[in-house]
Amino acid sequence: MEVHQFGSSGSSVPVIGQGTWQIASNDLVVRTLQRGIDLGMTHIDTAELYPGAEEVVGKAIRGRRDEVFVVSKVLPKNASRRGTIAACERTLKKLGTDYLDCFLLHWAEEPSQIREAMVALRELVWAGKIRAAGVSNLSVAELEIAVEALDDVALSCNQVVYNLFDRAIEDEVIPWCSANGVAVVGYSPFAGMSDASPAQRAVLARVGAVHGRTERQVTLRYLTRTSDLFAIPKASSLPHVEENADSTEFELTEADVAEIEAAFPR
Ligand SMILES: NC(=O)c1ccc[n+]([C@@H]2O[C@H](COP(=O)([O-])OP(=O)(O)OC[C@H]3O[C@@H](n4cnc5c(N)ncnc54)[C@H](OP(=O)(O)O)[C@@H]3O)[C@@H](O)[C@H]2O)c1
Repeated sequence: MEVHQFGSSGSSVPVIGQGTWQIASNDLVVRTLQRGIDLGMTHIDTAELYPGAEEVVGKAIRGRRDEVFVVSKVLPKNASRRGTIAACERTLKKLGTDYLDCFLLHWAEEPSQIREAMVALRELVWAGKIRAAGVSNLSVAELEIAVEALDDVALSCNQVVYNLFDRAIEDEVIPWCSANGVAVVGYSPFAGMSDASPAQRAVLARVGAVHGRTERQVTLRYLTRTSDLFAIPKASSLPHVEENADSTEFELTEADVAEIEAAFPR
């Protein structure tokens, strides 16, 4: 599994991680997450919003806390200064750990909320409860507010939607993040895949055949083609997690990228 520096956090994080939205709560899911960890997908993304997910992640990482990079998120409605700190404590309890690798504001409803949440994240970093501070679903203007409010603590990541059918972040968010040392974590990497046209699928299959990879693996490789990009697919079966884990350690050529972008225009 390829690992890259996670923004300016100083951590090396696998390019492909594991999402947990709408994850079921059963032993198979725990085993699937553990298999993903075994295969190097140690970046595990969860949130207080996802019912039961933090508890499931807690079961999956029990006894192997040092191997994983655990990320959770506070809801905007809880993201006052005190509310963010309380949300972090609840999340730590559900995960059965005493620190998070990164804690994110899930999205923002207004600028003052970003400022308040970032002040809390900064305090949590200094208190050792979280190792890095991040955000999710923020525009460039909002990212600038976050950076300013974090003051001497670096903004590690912006977690945003990124898939072949939604490449909007390529316009402004990715360039800004690259220039400012902020990792871009793309969520819902497979959204829209089931509606891909035969022609679109043929492009992914053709590129995949050259590299000995599947359409999903080519998709994940495209979405993580530069060093600032990470992806967090959610999988709830062993075949899916194994397929996703084998999506790095090959390079798309410029011609591959051009062909994919022509088939999935912005
Ligand atoms: N920050 C935010 O606002 C936000 C929003 C949405 C999502 N997220 C995060 O991003 C994660 C991923 O996004 P997502 O859950 O929306 O969707 P996704 O990862 O794009 O897609 C998940 C779907 O793809 C299937 N799948 C996974 N691997 C596959 C494979 N190799 N072959 C075929 N199908 C495969 C899964 O099926 P199975 O489950 O049956 O394996 C599931 O139906 C979330 O779980 C969450 O952690 C964050």
